[in-house]
Amino acid sequence: MFRKSLNTAATESRMWVYFLSACGGGAALLYVLYSWLIPAAVQYSGWWALLWHDVIVERMLDALTGSTRPQRLLRAVQKNATQGDPQSVINAIDHFCRHKEWAMNVGDEKGSILDSVVSEVNPSTALELGTYCGYSTVRIARLLPPGSQLITLEFNPAYAAVAKQVIGWAGLQDKVQLVEGPSGDLIPQMKDLFGVQSFDFVFLDHWKDRYLPDAKLLEECSLLRKGSVLLADNVICPGTPEYLEYIRNSPRYESRYFKSHLEYTKVEDGLEKSVFLG
Ligand SMILES: C[S@@+](CC[C@H](N)C(=O)[O-])C[C@H]1O[C@@H](n2cnc3c(N)ncnc32)[C@H](O)[C@@H]1O
Repeated sequence: MFRKSLNTAATESRMWVYFLSACGGGAALLYVLYSWLIPAAVQYSGWWALLWHDVIVERMLDALTGSTRPQRLLRAVQKNATQGDPQSVINAIDHFCRHKEWAMNVGDEKGSILDSVVSEVNPSTALELGTYCGYSTVRIARLLPPGSQLITLEFNPAYAAVAKQVIGWAGLQDKVQLVEGPSGDLIPQMKDLFGVQSFDFVFLDHWKDRYLPDAKLLEECSLLRKGSVLLADNVICPGTPEYLEYIRNSPRYESRYFKSHLEYTKVEDGLEKSVFLG
């Protein structure tokens, strides 16, 4: 009797050891898959990278943490960047996106192309379509000459609220006008609302199906002058075929592609710089 209950206890404890080992092994496998194997595998495919980072991981972390990706990005800025130092804000966001969570900023690699185009154009008036958390806004605004103005448009109020704080943390609030609303409604109001005659530089980085209609709207509203530069992000991934077709074949533009990679991945993407010829 006593031996029988000893045997039962031994069997039970063995089962517990198997069960706990299986749980531990499963958790370790999931951890390796989530942190290493899947991120490494999706580095080379735009479709899988966007599905993994922008849909699966974002929704999972939102549910687990009860916060949004922009809020987590803002916390990383507040924790790691120095107030009034735009470069430290850019570095904090890039570090967060490379090591913690991917996000749809233009990123460091294409960001340095953006920097060189902004520096070359040295705009007095600049327009950004698609602010998100304000990463590219900070990149552009920190390079603007004194007295110049950057207007950035964002139609998602939650993103705009985070961007306002990121721009403020970088100390660039006096150079940036963040306007909430859809580009298609706001572009025709630029002259009335802000007294802008034309833009020297326009960064297109909002939803890809709006690039072409908004470029045409800028022309129709006479917001481009001879020499104005349009710089369009993500022309390969996710891609903007109608815009590229138009801008590369129109006699009104001189256009050039800058090859790079989708932010924080190894997937090909690039920027299209197009000079308006009048
Ligand atoms: C790729 S993100 C912008 C990233 C940002 N430029 C950066 O590099 O940090 C695109 C943003 O455009 C906004 N957006 C998309 N279509 C828009 C539109 N028609 N008008 C205003 N904002 C728009 C989205 O809500 C999103 O925040």
